[in-house]
Amino acid sequence: MTDTNKTATLTLDGKTYELPVLSPTEGPDVIDIRKLYGQANVFTYDPGFTSTASCDSSITFIDGEEGVLLHRGYPISDLAGKSHYLEVCYLLLYGALPSAAELEDFETRVTRHTMVHEQMHRFFTGFRRDAHPMAIMTGVVGAMSAFYHDSTDISDPWQREVASIRMIAKMPTIAAMAYKYTIGQPFVYPRNDLDYASNFLRMCFAVPAEEYQVDPILSRAMDRIFTLHADHEQNASTSTVRLASSSGANPFACIAAGIACLWGPAHGGANQACLEMLREIGSVDKIPEYIARAKDKNDPFRLMGFGHRVYKNFDPRAKVMKESADEVLELLGVENNPTLQVAKELERQALEDDYFVSKKLFPNVDFYSGIILEAMGFPTAMFTPIFALSRTVGWISQWKEMIEDPQMKIGRPRQLYTGASERPYVDVENR
Ligand code: CMC
Repeated sequence: MTDTNKTATLTLDGKTYELPVLSPTEGPDVIDIRKLYGQANVFTYDPGFTSTASCDSSITFIDGEEGVLLHRGYPISDLAGKSHYLEVCYLLLYGALPSAAELEDFETRVTRHTMVHEQMHRFFTGFRRDAHPMAIMTGVVGAMSAFYHDSTDISDPWQREVASIRMIAKMPTIAAMAYKYTIGQPFVYPRNDLDYASNFLRMCFAVPAEEYQVDPILSRAMDRIFTLHADHEQNASTSTVRLASSSGANPFACIAAGIACLWGPAHGGANQACLEMLREIGSVDKIPEYIARAKDKNDPFRLMGFGHRVYKNFDPRAKVMKESADEVLELLGVENNPTLQVAKELERQALEDDYFVSKKLFPNVDFYSGIILEAMGFPTAMFTPIFALSRTVGWISQWKEMIEDPQMKIGRPRQLYTGASERPYVDVENR
């Protein structure tokens, strides 16, 4: 961030205020209003943060109009095509692509932390069997601060590093355990000879009674899903993690807050909601009825998996995800699955419909990820946990960046108060 010579002028009640304009390396300039309240006794109003930069960050850049997503400067299509998830984790966390030796060391560190404390198994069994895996994950990740309290001191860089590695390593184990618990199967322990994605697939789908072979195409598709969800700058769950951490709370508690936020259907819960919607539509002939409902102002129904707050042209993650979906569906020979037929036709009809075109509503990453995950055999309830485990590295990278910033302040938004002015208390008998 650099100061420009530009200033923005605000005139209020006959007085003029010069506001500095900051210039990012990419993206629009930013008007610095930090001193505005002190100088002019006004707040700015921006619910939903549609025009407000809540922090400065060097991790991820998005240009929603152009469909650009860069991690530390590298385009997501290059990372999804040429790199793999753990390398992208390293890039997000430490700012540069690793050398071969650095990558090997990082992968070893992550692999060695994949098991969870044995006593955590009992924590899982306290949940009802029909609990949503996201409910279990929120609880279990929050509880990590009770199991790993030797890495909760955020003022110690070593403890921060250990907590980061622990979370990236254990999140697939926790997500897989949440799944196994809800279907009544035994937990499958991680295996250190497998790569990150294969290990996750095995922990989800293997049973002790027989051998389980991971198909390399499925493992590659899983790794791509992880990579495409790894970070997305200041979205709702990441902002939640930053706000929670700004009070100095421990990292496990903050990531649990991020998971809770991600669960909502307007955010990470959209992949589950999308598949459920496709099932509800059920057959291709019903599609026009649902498109009409999505367009009806008096009907709250929306096409799940369509639209994005930032991408108003196309979602670059969706492009890669679509290619991956075609690959996986062909491999599994499920191109004729009715849900997938509905998905393809819905996409076609919506993209030709003036409502969706004029409002720039395109399929987002969650539209295709649900299709792949369904074809791989994951139940819909596991879609959002998979998003959560992929996004953990993004949350941690943003948390680390914030904690390491000497300017860090507790996040404390202001408000436009619309309640009653001061009034006298009335005793109950006089009301
Ligand atoms: N179906 C029908 N109409 C829609 C949709 C949709 N999916 N999305 C937006 N619109 C309409 C909306 O009704 C509004 O119309 P009008 O201007 O006439 O009032 C207009 O488009 C703008 O919508 P908005 O809600 O103001 O846009 P937003 O930027 O606040 O919301 C969104 C973005 C993602 C929450 C929204 O598009 C949505 O609810 N999509 C469905 C849920 C979804 O797929 N979410 C996953 C996002 S990608 C993964 C992630 O980042 O978590």
